[in-house]
Formats: sequence, structure tokens, C-alpha cells
Amino acid sequence: MGFLGYETIPSHRTPASSPEPVQTSNKFTVGGPFSLIDHRGQAFTDRDLEGKVRLVFFGFTSCPDVCPTALTLMTELLDELDPADLDQIRPLFVTVDPERDTVEVMKDYMSAFHPSIIGLTGSLAAVDAMTKAYKVYYAKQPTEDGKDYTMNHSSGVYLFDRQGEFRSTLDLHEDPAVVRAKLKRIVEG
Ligand code: NI
Repeated sequence: MGFLGYETIPSHRTPASSPEPVQTSNKFTVGGPFSLIDHRGQAFTDRDLEGKVRLVFFGFTSCPDVCPTALTLMTELLDELDPADLDQIRPLFVTVDPERDTVEVMKDYMSAFHPSIIGLTGSLAAVDAMTKAYKVYYAKQPTEDGKDYTMNHSSGVYLFDRQGEFRSTLDLHEDPAVVRAKLKRIVEG
């Protein structure tokens, strides 16, 4: 059982906000090294994030509404940041459906959202390893006719500081001014 308590959750549960900053005495171990491929086809690892604040969101491109809504809200958030702050942030959208979300598919999909958002895919093993490290739940869910599938997945946006330490989740449905202030505290911290 992870800190999201995801055994019984429906698809797209947003984890409850955690205390901020996380207390060192009961720090969650969330995050860590990964090795994937970005939507431009380049190798991309945690080392490409050194010194940057990270926003990490997991989903899949054929998600009917929650993922595109989250990415649209994230795009609006990023649009409102001043360029100096924006440059300190690396937003990541990591697919939990790498079999369908190839680099080509990701490249096409990411073109609809903020240009600073980096789409990540990779081998099933690499994606699975990252979801485990980030305590993200995902599972294939066959459609009723059994001919296709969708993905159930947890949908929180994870906020990490420049050192790669997990700080909190970010609720994109909150007042945008509140979300921006939360982000700015991490950027300036
Ligand atoms: Ni989704």
C-alpha cells in the first residue's frame, strides 16, 4: 500500500494534499531516477532535471477527459507565469500507456499544450519502474466489448523542488492564484 491508498480508488483519483513542506521525520519516498524518451525522440532522464522544480503528471493520450483537462489547466497555469519563473520549472507528462503512446503519438499530442511540457514515454519496464518509484497506480481496463482497453490511473500532479525532493501535490482545480503562489514558493525556496 502506497501513500495514495489506491487499492480501491476509481480511475483518476486525485490524492489528498500532503502537508507542505513534508516533514523530514516522516518524509515520503516519492520520485527517483528514471530513464525515458521525450516526445521529440530524445533520451530523457532525471539528470535532465537537475536544479529545476519539477511538476510530474501521469496519464495517457487517449484519455477522454481528465488528462486533457489537467494538461489544459497546466497550460493556463504556465501561460500566466513570468518567463524567469517558467524557466525554473520542468513540467512532465508521463504516459502509463507506452504501448500506444509512441514518440510519434506523444509528439502530436503534446503540440496541443504548453510548449514547456515534456511528454515522456519508453519501454513498458521503464515506465513501470517510474510509476512504482512515484507511487502511481495504473492498470489496463478492457472496454465492455473486450476489443479495446482504457487505462485507470491516479491523476495527481506531483511537485518536486530543485533537489528532487517531493514537496506536495498540486490541485489544478484550485484558484489559479493559489496554485501559482504555491509554485512560486517552491521556485523561490
Ligand atoms: Ni487520464
